[in-house]
Amino acid sequence: MKKQIQILIAAASLVGLFATQASFAAGNIAAGAEKSKACEACHGAGGNAPTTPDFPRLAGQHADYLDKALRDYKSGARKNAIMASQVEKLSRQDLQDLAAYFASQSGSLTTKR
Ligand code: HEC
Repeated sequence: MKKQIQILIAAASLVGLFATQASFAAGNIAAGAEKSKACEACHGAGGNAPTTPDFPRLAGQHADYLDKALRDYKSGARKNAIMASQVEKLSRQDLQDLAAYFASQSGSLTTKR
């Protein structure tokens, strides 16, 4: 009985792992590139903002981090008036596409293979 429960727990966590990976892969880079035009004014072309402490560089950042940041601005968990207004009308898919696009870009602080 105990063994069966252990197997069940292991199986359940594997399903969770695959579900998580699938959600990271859900962003479409090409669609994100199109949607990113609205972000360029502050975050620079391809997410490489000019050197200023005001606007973070998004290029090369991890997609899951970007996705989480965008979801938090949308939910209000992360408070910033500028970014809240940017994500207000964006869908879950938009956020994933944007995260995938910026993660795929080479940043001045990161290297991409
Ligand atoms: C009007 C300027 C402006 C525009 C346009 C803008 N942002 Fe931002 N963004 C900011 C500022 C300012 C911050 C820093 C906010 C903070 O301190 O939380 C920020 C932060 C972020 C962060 C968090 C970065 C980090 O390192 O935690 C992400 C992700 C982000 N923006 C994505 C976007 C995306 C995607 C778009 C386009 C849909 C966009 N931004 C458009 C000004 C802007």
